[in-house]
Amino acid sequence: MTLVAAGVLGSVAQAYAVDTRARFMAANCAYCHGPDGKSRGAIPSLAGMDKAYFVDQMKAFRDNTRPNTVMTKHAMGYTDAEYEALGAWFSAIK
Ligand code: HEC
Repeated sequence: MTLVAAGVLGSVAQAYAVDTRARFMAANCAYCHGPDGKSRGAIPSLAGMDKAYFVDQMKAFRDNTRPNTVMTKHAMGYTDAEYEALGAWFSAIK
């Protein structure tokens, strides 16, 4: 019983940590993509974006198969796991 409870609490704490970290990383994108990924200009919004599409684009920027100087620099600063966390974060924004 104790073990089960600890497991549940542990995963809640972990989800919370991932969330906080994703929010922190997403703040680096707000200057161009808008607060909460809701762009007010010509730059595409990230809010509500399909997670798989998001991760694919980040990899394409990193690998330069989608050439873009600014986004390639950003994409190089994150790991695949962080793309997943950011993708989950933005896709969850309505
Ligand atoms: C200095 C401005 C700037 C910042 C900061 C920035 N981006 Fe971008 N981003 C752009 C521009 C400009 C484009 C459009 C590129 C294009 O048309 O190829 C873009 C495109 C994208 C796309 C593709 C959107 C689509 O509809 O295909 C994704 C995904 C993305 N950015 C994610 C991010 C993430 C995640 C961050 C933060 C870690 C970030 N960007 C930070 C300028 C920025």
